[in-house]
Amino acid sequence: MKEISQNVFYCGLHDRDRKLFDQLVPLPQGTTYNSYLIKGSSKCAVVDTMYAKLAEPYMNMVRSSGFSVDYIVSNHAEPDHSGCILPLLNLYPEAKVLCSEKCSQNLQNMLGVGIERIRVVSDGEEVDLGGLTLKFLMTPWVHWPDTMCTYCPEKRMLFSCDLFGAHYTDFELFADDSPALADAAKRYYAEIMMPFAGFCRKYVKTVESLGVDMILPSHGAIYNNPVFILNLYKAWSSEDLSKKAVIGYVSMYDNTKLMSEYLANALRNRGVEVLLADLMETDEGELAMELIDASALIFGTSMVLAGPHPKVVYASYLTGILRPKLKFYSVIGSFGWGGNLTAAVEANMGSLKAEKVEGVVTKGRPLQADFNKLDELADTIAKKLDSVCR
Ligand code: FEO
Repeated sequence: MKEISQNVFYCGLHDRDRKLFDQLVPLPQGTTYNSYLIKGSSKCAVVDTMYAKLAEPYMNMVRSSGFSVDYIVSNHAEPDHSGCILPLLNLYPEAKVLCSEKCSQNLQNMLGVGIERIRVVSDGEEVDLGGLTLKFLMTPWVHWPDTMCTYCPEKRMLFSCDLFGAHYTDFELFADDSPALADAAKRYYAEIMMPFAGFCRKYVKTVESLGVDMILPSHGAIYNNPVFILNLYKAWSSEDLSKKAVIGYVSMYDNTKLMSEYLANALRNRGVEVLLADLMETDEGELAMELIDASALIFGTSMVLAGPHPKVVYASYLTGILRPKLKFYSVIGSFGWGGNLTAAVEANMGSLKAEKVEGVVTKGRPLQADFNKLDELADTIAKKLDSVCR
């Protein structure tokens, strides 16, 4: 346990070996689960707990503090933060869980926490610890509908749970505001927060109005210079559009690769910034990061039997659920004898408000007529981007 400020302690743990989050999100350097202990003159609170697999070192750490815990604040019920609520309730039989109504339901359903051990708090409600106050701010949808943040006004500290987090382990306590941290926070934003960009914009304003001195998320480093992460979130969640296209392709025998590279150059020649990604070498997080500020997405795909390559189907499905601010999408590619290269991608992209731009599909190797069509596609996309981008 490390002291962050007088009577406020960090009791998080690093999990550098974890490779995937939610069995979906790649973790290049693992992650951390941050828990905080706040000791007032009369009461003691733990803010968020620990993934259950690290229960033993976590419980030893809390126990060794010598404090008796009165409140367990659960900002969000996902098990990476709620996994040690039950052991804490067992260790401190008088302790109560403080959480939102939706979080209460989740804790009962997912963990079996007894309703008698839960006290639901409302937006703006305060709990006095003796000289230190916990003020609860309902912030649904960052990451689940149950989420809230906890603010300690005397310390000007915001315990933000998943919001502003990063799967970043290269720190002792405080953020170094380095490009590496910005990159990790961007990956985290893309994979977890991007579907909730509107909520992020709103909560950034809330946090700015509080004038916080420190943001203490439940993943990654503590921001003792909050403007660093707030400015990044402003940029990432902005509704502004840039003249940028992402081309993600899978090519079995180089025909689709040739078409994707040709289209990338044709777009660049028309003033469009292009990120060209071979989806066999690009992990889902890298693709999601590029989609944060892209206005157009083009999938290049070979035909596998009668449909697009499964990697492209998966990438389009992820794109559909991550809800980037894309305005246009298209599909290009090559097939051998028949099938439908676009239908599965269209179905996945249907949840977005992106307009489909008719792509270029060719049989076998692309010929001059196909390259001419790719030039026309580049013309169309560049003009459409011009019409919506500043
Ligand atoms: Fe870090 Fe949504 O849990």
